[in-house]
Amino acid sequence: MTTLTRRDLLKLAGLTLAAPPLRSFAWATEVDTGFPTPPILPLSRPEPRVVEGEIFAAWARVPVAGTTARLQTYNKTFPGPTLRLHEGDRVRLRFTNLLDEPTNLHLHGLRIPPAVDDPFRSIEPGGSFVYEFVVPRGSAGTYWYHPHIHGRVAEQLFAGLAGAILIDPWSRRGRLRLSESHLVVLKDLALQGDAPAPHTILDWTNGKEGDLVLVNGALQPVLRTSRSSIRLRLLNASNARYYRLGLEGHPFLLVATDGGLIESPVSLDELLLAPGERAEVLVPMEGAETLRLQNLPYDRGSGMGAMHGGRMGGSMGGMHPAGNVGGSAPQILLTLEADIDSRIVPLPRRLAPVERLDAGAARVVRHLVLGMTMMGRGFTINGKAFDENRIDFHGREGDLELWELENATGMDHPFHLHTYSFQVLSRDGVPEPFPAWKDVVNVRAGEVVRIAVPLRDFTGKTVFHCHIVEHEDRGMMGVLAV
Ligand code: C2O
Ligand code: CU
Ligand code: CU
Repeated sequence: MTTLTRRDLLKLAGLTLAAPPLRSFAWATEVDTGFPTPPILPLSRPEPRVVEGEIFAAWARVPVAGTTARLQTYNKTFPGPTLRLHEGDRVRLRFTNLLDEPTNLHLHGLRIPPAVDDPFRSIEPGGSFVYEFVVPRGSAGTYWYHPHIHGRVAEQLFAGLAGAILIDPWSRRGRLRLSESHLVVLKDLALQGDAPAPHTILDWTNGKEGDLVLVNGALQPVLRTSRSSIRLRLLNASNARYYRLGLEGHPFLLVATDGGLIESPVSLDELLLAPGERAEVLVPMEGAETLRLQNLPYDRGSGMGAMHGGRMGGSMGGMHPAGNVGGSAPQILLTLEADIDSRIVPLPRRLAPVERLDAGAARVVRHLVLGMTMMGRGFTINGKAFDENRIDFHGREGDLELWELENATGMDHPFHLHTYSFQVLSRDGVPEPFPAWKDVVNVRAGEVVRIAVPLRDFTGKTVFHCHIVEHEDRGMMGVLAV
């Protein structure tokens, strides 16, 4: 096991830990209420609007669910430290691989050049690389980082390698400032002894889920607040677990999706968060009350189900279903304890304008069929498993494209595109109720989802894939060259 002392860290960082504290851009008040939250990555600011930071991947013993475990971590914390950035920042992030296997860093959802956020780059043990990019204007929201080495993503992500990226807006205006804000990283884990449990053959088909369903690395933490509304920034950093989130019937307001704020809050009773997806919600509360955030049963189908003709097949013939299957009980994720002593803050009516893409202007229509090979041992897009030397689609910068995603299997697949954000147009022909920027969209078993993809700002070679990372590792990924 690699053990780093504070001095090693300093050397590694090439900067002092006495670096000035992160300037306070707080978009919403961050309050220390004892709720477990990943540490903020220390950043130095050598020049105005330039930030530098240091991330390393290493095995480390960390507290997990009331015990300790030996995980693959970023900076010896689990989940990894939160990268807190501001629109317009020029970021220099030095990444060092202290694992005994190759890895790399993917900045999930950030609209930055594919030559920087390059999934084909491999950083060997002991190696490092500086990721340098500018945080685009208009990208304020919740994002994350994780490894992207083809064939190893599932094991490395499951072993603990994931952290959040929070981007604050250019301007400090915004009514969300009035509510207290908390990051909620949803990530499950299974241990064998004190190490991450290895994948079984079935895990490679269904995607691996862990019995420890953790919130910021903790089991069923309590969040105490005295505010009349709190904002939860939700990130599903799990390999394969879906979260159908509910507050025991108490409504909450969706305010942001993967790519940032929506136009106005949408009141919901429940919210499905597929692997890779993010959402921000406001929870209004009154007086003294206790609310539990639950993960409700959700049937995402199973790989075996497809062999027997669809979603229901998974539970037939004694096959082990993929997970969260209908009939199992709701799981408690976290408890909100409110004791409101402050005045009631009015909830926002308008959030931010969201561009409406004109699907009629699409110059290119693509059809993608998500499929699998016999017995779910391999996964495909348009019948082909991923080949890094093949370009599946050639696009033209500036074009608006329309992609039709068809799921021909018996299980859900969360479809993800790098570099370019998209908007969902319709699901099984039903128009999406409001415009929102996304980079992951769940495609249910048998469903057809249409998305509008503007190929803006960047050229280069990028990828799209299923974010059940076992499926990605086993071939459900393709290459787009723009
Ligand atoms: Cu979060 Cu290509 O993935
Ligand atoms: Cu990504
Ligand atoms: Cu999949």
